[in-house]
Amino acid sequence: MDVAALDVIVPILYIISFGLFIYGLMGLTGPKTAVRGNWIAAVGMTIAVVATLLQVRHNWLLIIVGLVVGAALGIPSARQVKMTAMPQMVALFNGVGGGAVALIAWSEFRTSDGFATEAGYVVVASMFAAIVGSISFWGSLIAFGKLQEILPGRPIGLGAAQQFVNGLLLLAAIACAVVAGLGGAPEIWIVALLVLAAVLGVLVVLPIGGADMPVVISLLNAMTGLSAAAAGLALDNTAMIVAGMIVGASGSILTNLMAKAMNRSIPAIVAGGFGGTTTLPGADDGVDRTVTSTSAADAAVQMAYASQVIVVPGYGMAVAQAQHAVKDMAKLLESKGVEVKYAIHPVAGRMPGHMNVLLAEADVSYDALKEMDEINDEFARTDVTLVIGANDVTNPAARTDPSSPIHGMPILNVDESRSVIVLKRSMSSGFAGIDNPLFYAENTSMLFGDAKKSVTEVTEELKAL
Ligand code: TAP
Repeated sequence: MDVAALDVIVPILYIISFGLFIYGLMGLTGPKTAVRGNWIAAVGMTIAVVATLLQVRHNWLLIIVGLVVGAALGIPSARQVKMTAMPQMVALFNGVGGGAVALIAWSEFRTSDGFATEAGYVVVASMFAAIVGSISFWGSLIAFGKLQEILPGRPIGLGAAQQFVNGLLLLAAIACAVVAGLGGAPEIWIVALLVLAAVLGVLVVLPIGGADMPVVISLLNAMTGLSAAAAGLALDNTAMIVAGMIVGASGSILTNLMAKAMNRSIPAIVAGGFGGTTTLPGADDGVDRTVTSTSAADAAVQMAYASQVIVVPGYGMAVAQAQHAVKDMAKLLESKGVEVKYAIHPVAGRMPGHMNVLLAEADVSYDALKEMDEINDEFARTDVTLVIGANDVTNPAARTDPSSPIHGMPILNVDESRSVIVLKRSMSSGFAGIDNPLFYAENTSMLFGDAKKSVTEVTEELKAL
């Protein structure tokens, strides 16, 4: 295709792809339209890739090898990943995006004789892309390692020197960027910049505890988007600018929403230190830790005679894959005249919308799913609350204990309901690694065992009533 025709066709294809990105993103705002939204955005991305490839004049073999290697690695891992491992998968894929952007900036440096022939804005955008892309890549690898438990989840840091060292690394990376950006500098300067940014990415994420990791992944995702937009500016590629800005903006909004749901400020998260440590029950702190256990039969009787039951799903429901069993139990309860609602905490599980996705898979009606703000006042009027593999999101210490690491995090007011039944396997802590006073409360009884097995047993008992 000749250049004049491409000048017309490529922008049109890009505009179509942006439209599809935005339309697809709108679909992701609700579980009913999410799958379609994802497909629409994927079609948009395919069109953008084709439009970009139309302009390629050389290096076809390398591009095809790259596409084959990417598809061979990406497709099977995306298909095989378990729902519970999705956050680390997102971290890895996001990190690769940041790494690619850093490499683009390096390649720009090489093809322009060390920026000797580039306009000022291209140089600034390339340097921004190199620093932020490298931080995102290495930071995301550490986040992946922590969530995959290859690295310890606890904060690992340099203590008081941490912020000073991080600041120094950032200044040194910027200094290298200035030298490399002046034009005609040796390649060692951009390599030094990439290495300094890499060390900074590692040192920023290592001191962040496990419980804050989802927010960090979202933040790194936003940074990758911004660096891709900057690389788009350098390459004069509108598709990269728009897609990068969409990722940057949506990632920033998500980061903010998650930080708010955990009552954490983003600077406090980046300063690190929260979560990943374990305060196991039994500490000698004078708290009465008497636990009341119950049986499936007793739980069934309690719920069958309730007028309203609130189900609080958490990470344990995902591990046990209990969502279908929960739906069957709820159906049986409803047939006995019990109203069943589901209370969804914004950070229950291990990724945004985790519980919604699982319950949607089991065909639970969207109308029965209630967000935290919508349902929190109802617990006090509820006969039985059934906590299925949730822990941190129900921990009243967040409200009452100023020394708790999760103090201030909004929680579901489960402890206010007349009776609470908690389904979990043991007294182990949840993601934040802290004890939960709810389990020792007078109105709480524990039904120990795998959540799916326990819910199935309760359903059998309900059938017999
Ligand atoms: P958690 O506090 O992590 O607690 C989950 C509980 O499930 C554990 O105490 C565990 O106890 C139980 N469990 C595990 N497997 C089970 C099984 N097969 N059957 C029954 N119970 C099982 O979960 P949560 O309340 O959903 O809170 C989420 C936490 O993860 C928060 O701290 C949040 O900040 C963090 N986080 C959230 C996200 C997002 S965005 N959602 C991402 C990453 C981290 P046993 O071992 O005793 O069974």
